[in-house]
Amino acid sequence: MSFNGRDIISIKDLSKEDILTILKTARKMEKQDHLNLMKGRILATLFYEPSTRTRLSFESAMHRIGGAVLGFSQAKVSSAAKGETIHDTIKMMEAYADVVVMRHPVEGAARRAAESGSIPIINAGDGANQHPTQTLLDLYTMLKVKGSLENLKIGFVGDLKYGRTVHSLAHAASLFKAQMTFISPETLRMPTHQLSELKSAGSSYKEVSRIEGNCKDLDFLYMTRVQRERFPDPVEYEKVKDAYVIDSSYIEHFNKDMKIMHPLPRVNEIAKDLDDTHYAIYFEQARNGIPIRQALLALVTGAI
Ligand code: NCD
Repeated sequence: MSFNGRDIISIKDLSKEDILTILKTARKMEKQDHLNLMKGRILATLFYEPSTRTRLSFESAMHRIGGAVLGFSQAKVSSAAKGETIHDTIKMMEAYADVVVMRHPVEGAARRAAESGSIPIINAGDGANQHPTQTLLDLYTMLKVKGSLENLKIGFVGDLKYGRTVHSLAHAASLFKAQMTFISPETLRMPTHQLSELKSAGSSYKEVSRIEGNCKDLDFLYMTRVQRERFPDPVEYEKVKDAYVIDSSYIEHFNKDMKIMHPLPRVNEIAKDLDDTHYAIYFEQARNGIPIRQALLALVTGAI
């Protein structure tokens, strides 16, 4: 299916073939300069929730291929603070921009935005639901490391209940027949609806509580932050916030070729003493956000 004019709301809207097309386009972006590709086009970044990497890498991506950027990074400086609806905001964006990247705390907000107008909407995270562009850069990183996305062994660690990056990535990984190990405290397990989807897709997964003893055959250990802002009760957050903290003393538990990934920001779950080891690829992973987001912006605006 053509990408021109398409919304990117959930990773579930993309077929395996779509995903591979995006990764191939990102490769092209990285190999060659495309300085004027988006000349005359405008990206609007509407961020109703905090962000560092997602917003700035989208903006940098757009600038580096010749496009312009406008937007806001906090809801309180937009008319949302006056009570404007997403629908009305998107109606305006059709006149101001060619593509919108939006992050919002409410699940389904990006879908609502997509239904509000004809301008392509890219979901940069909606509550605990989905974060498809993070998944694409995660897959791109895995592809660069392993040369193929098929049959990978991935361990997901931490907040699997509220972590939207995990929800998106687990779905995509199942398209490539990954074997998944979900490592979390009992209270932060993967949502049951997500597990039933994986089950009906014939995916292979197990749920465990400890890192130790579960990493010897992994290709990737995908660490995540406990999502403090999503906990209704701060006492519950306190109970699990230090559930997993890995440092160089954990190396004995790792497969020697395993790579540690993290969508970032990290809090305390990966100690700095792992940063300079060959296991750590999280900063490289974040840098892969640039070609992936360039590919997406160019594809949905029909520039490529
Ligand atoms: C993630 C997010 O916003 O979901 N960050 C990101 O976009 N790289 C992960 C997180 O906030 O923990």
